[in-house]
Amino acid sequence: MADGFQFAFTPEVDKATQPLWEKVKGHITPMEWRLQAPLIAEINRLKREKNAVILAHNYMTPDIFHGVGDYVGDSLGLAKEAAKSDAKIIVQAGVHFMAETSKILSPEKTVLIPDLRAGCSLASSITGADVRLIKQRYPGLPVVTYVNTTADVKAETDVCCTSANAVQVVEHVAREWGVDRVILIPDEFLARNVARQTDIKIIAWQGRCEVHERFTAADILELKAAYPNAQILAHPECPAEVLEVSDFAGSTAAMNDYVLTRKPKQVVLITECSMADNVAVDAIDTEFVRPCNLCPHMKRITLENIYESLVHNRYEVTVDPAIAARARVAVQRMIDLPPPLVPARYDLVKARHHVDVELI
Ligand code: 13P
Ligand code: SF4
Repeated sequence: MADGFQFAFTPEVDKATQPLWEKVKGHITPMEWRLQAPLIAEINRLKREKNAVILAHNYMTPDIFHGVGDYVGDSLGLAKEAAKSDAKIIVQAGVHFMAETSKILSPEKTVLIPDLRAGCSLASSITGADVRLIKQRYPGLPVVTYVNTTADVKAETDVCCTSANAVQVVEHVAREWGVDRVILIPDEFLARNVARQTDIKIIAWQGRCEVHERFTAADILELKAAYPNAQILAHPECPAEVLEVSDFAGSTAAMNDYVLTRKPKQVVLITECSMADNVAVDAIDTEFVRPCNLCPHMKRITLENIYESLVHNRYEVTVDPAIAARARVAVQRMIDLPPPLVPARYDLVKARHHVDVELI
């Protein structure tokens, strides 16, 4: 329980949160709402008082995503918001590498993460020292690093990428450097999926997302048999065999756009569990079939610890200024690229399924 706060569902709280309740009432039970609404109202009041914004990733639970998030989206969208926000305080409702990215882009702001233990299996798969060794082994090749990495790793990087723009970044950097091979680390599966969409040869690291690596092609084929009319959308952190039998591959923002613009009758999102819960609130014409895996790191963030984070200004995320300055160059290069002309697409993935990567 959050300290120092009375969790009463008063008539004032009821009135202040009524519009939000109208939006989420098919997705949150009245009993849950009476517990969540007082915290949501208080967090929103504290944000105004302290000139704070909450950047919430698509994997936050709906009470956070719809209730208190000022900016919601994928890793790329949140990084762009961190760069342009003029709030004094950023509360990162996401994982630690996202908070570090915000601090790298906005060193003058206070960046808070409600639970310091919110890590990421990809970010912990590689260190800055590893990247220095990789650069010695492959001199003259550009290093593209997924944003799911620590500031130390970003500082050794030429350009960052997210799953929304990885193909574009790889092709851009290869053109700029005049090379036909690019190091793309640390997600092996993202690297394999990118390799199937480009002629550039990819050198990859064996990092994995513990949420997406668990999906198998057999899971997807079983779903297809049970729900023959459902559209299956998978995240590019999944194994390539999963994407090959899915209908679409894209970042969490790309999945969101797909559902909201194409309005499929039935959809399956092969990703973290909260994704479907959040999109379902807006996608009123779509039925969601929900096999999913929970990210234990994302789930460390709760309304209670967001409230405490704002009250106590905790936990502040800092990055050594010398490291941040080098990491900023890599993140800013990514942000400055124009949006991809063509989003990551399954048909391209399928067309080149024989393309392999060189594993470090
Ligand atoms: P995106 O939101 O960029 O698709 O990334 C998913 C993810 O796993 C972030 O941790
Ligand atoms: Fe990391 Fe995967 Fe969790 Fe995203 S979903 S934070 S990539 S472990």
